[in-house]
Amino acid sequence: MDEVKLHEFMGRLVGDMGGAAIMANVILGEELGLYRAMADGNPVTPEELAKRTGCNSRLVREWLSGQAASGYVEHDQGRFTLPEEQAMALANEDSPVYVAGGAVVLASMYLDKDKLVAAMRGDGALSWADHHPCLFSGTERFFRPGYRANLVSAWLPALDGVVPRLEQGAKVADVGCGHGASTVIMAQAYPKSSFHGFDFHGRSIEQARQRAADAAVSDRVQFSQASARDFPGRDFDLVCFFDCLHDMGDPVGAARHAHEVLKPGGVVLLVEPFANDDLDQNLNPIGRMYYAASTCICTPNSLSQEVGLGLGAQAGERRLRHVFAEAGFASFRRATETPFNLVLEARK
Ligand SMILES: C[S@@+](CC[C@H](N)C(=O)[O-])C[C@H]1O[C@@H](n2cnc3c(N)ncnc32)[C@H](O)[C@@H]1O
Repeated sequence: MDEVKLHEFMGRLVGDMGGAAIMANVILGEELGLYRAMADGNPVTPEELAKRTGCNSRLVREWLSGQAASGYVEHDQGRFTLPEEQAMALANEDSPVYVAGGAVVLASMYLDKDKLVAAMRGDGALSWADHHPCLFSGTERFFRPGYRANLVSAWLPALDGVVPRLEQGAKVADVGCGHGASTVIMAQAYPKSSFHGFDFHGRSIEQARQRAADAAVSDRVQFSQASARDFPGRDFDLVCFFDCLHDMGDPVGAARHAHEVLKPGGVVLLVEPFANDDLDQNLNPIGRMYYAASTCICTPNSLSQEVGLGLGAQAGERRLRHVFAEAGFASFRRATETPFNLVLEARK
């Protein structure tokens, strides 16, 4: 045994355990408004922060100490400061790098531990609806900042000829829409178009309707509970799949249905987690996060459905191209990408 390697590995594990523990504290900070109350960048004592947020000051002191040990806040003589950069990631839900919602997704993985143990010992299935409900809101809050930052400014313009059609009035399906974050953002940007969000999870559809009402876009947005393989409607100009195709049991069936309901010349926008084609190329921090989430969330959901292809969240472009070729699409290309997303275009 190599003692140096052992010590190195133990160092990494301690770091990871600290990371897992601090994520539970990130959820507390997020839910209790502790980060937001520090977002002005002014130093606070634990007592001042506790007073501002209506929290117990002894626990707030402990929380701040853990945040300081993590480099999330700075400490100087009993006062704590949230730097501007950390505020962007942890306090400002409108910022493109806001990640605190992701911690809520991680919470669901722990809360669903018993169900996941049973799935791993059994047929691998755990349906989306059977997860702890914090997964649904966490997913919305994790993905929305990326959609806000990229969808209208970069992803739709990267598709051939789609923006002019949206500006004039196009018919759009958003399949596997969850709480409708992407649908609402598109409806706000293109008021002459009509948007149809579909998801097989009824509770998500109810939330999506509420989001559309809150954003005052209900006149051009409709949400319906429907599966990706047989959602209603025809003659769509654009069919979108945002971070959901790999969650589906039958992605080929979903893509085939998209092919059937697209107009001639219609386009599919497929947004999937960033991944390279081969496992060894994905052994990095992004792959680590996505494989772990895929083990607990995406792949069990796929295995719970008919066909149960189990693409996984790191399928990569080559595998996805295969899905769309099988479904009858004539062309498939990478339109653009971010460190977190592959943005792909398929045409009839
Ligand atoms: C990771 S979430 C993404 C939700 C949303 N697109 C977003 O980006 O916030 C995956 C979504 O796919 C939905 N889904 C999974 N399988 C489905 C299927 N076969 N038909 C329709 N929706 C499905 C789930 O209910 C869930 O809302």
